[in-house]
Amino acid sequence: MAVIGIMDSGSGGLSVLREIRKTLPKQRYIYYADNAWCPYGEKTPEFIIERLHAITDLFLERDAAAVVLACNTATSAAIADLRASYGIPFVGMEPAIKPAALGTQTGVVGVLATAGTLGGSKYLQNKERFSDGVRIEERVGAGFVELVEAGELSGPHAEAVVRASLQPLLDEGADRIVLGCTHYPFLLETLRKVATELGHGDVQFIDPAPAVARRLADVLQQAGIAPEDENPGTELLSSGPRENLLEIYSSI
Ligand code: DGL
Repeated sequence: MAVIGIMDSGSGGLSVLREIRKTLPKQRYIYYADNAWCPYGEKTPEFIIERLHAITDLFLERDAAAVVLACNTATSAAIADLRASYGIPFVGMEPAIKPAALGTQTGVVGVLATAGTLGGSKYLQNKERFSDGVRIEERVGAGFVELVEAGELSGPHAEAVVRASLQPLLDEGADRIVLGCTHYPFLLETLRKVATELGHGDVQFIDPAPAVARRLADVLQQAGIAPEDENPGTELLSSGPRENLLEIYSSI
């Protein structure tokens, strides 16, 4: 019996759980939405590390064998500390700059993420490593997390919020947009609609969640953790309100 703990600051990590369950459908999961403290994007690394210790302890009380930080911001702030502090595997998320840089035809890659992720040393290293011959343009998806937490995934207001951060990247010529926050894939239809209206219907949005799901499968195998559990399923926990969380959960 092994359970996999998956966490995010809120509903965003459900976009990762969706991919993980496609790859490992017979596993047992606990999803923890730390939505009492959402958004993480502007919080200090110290605060995020403290929250991640509390969440990891809760997972361990429930016999977690591995933990997925389904949150780019939490990964950037806390994964090194968690790996040094606990004896179980941690799988994290980071903006998928490499496939975007390999695929761009215009030579411009856009990255949408939180301020915490864009300022993190791992992100800056990755950018340095994969941006040879490619220009990287970044924007915080201002207000995106709040839209998803409110369950407002479409409509004129959501489009206006999305346009404010997306348009500058498209104006710069980006033909690949990296979704560097796990909340953003829930806005994909709105992102596509706005891009099409701005004359960029062919832009590709890149979500690293499928790659993270494959990585988790490899990590479990290397750690000798069975890919199946006799009681497969997902338990949903949260530190804050559940109504919108449950609505997004029921859609994945
Ligand atoms: N979903 C998270 C991420 O991937 C965090 C968003 C937030 O809480 O600001 O970065």
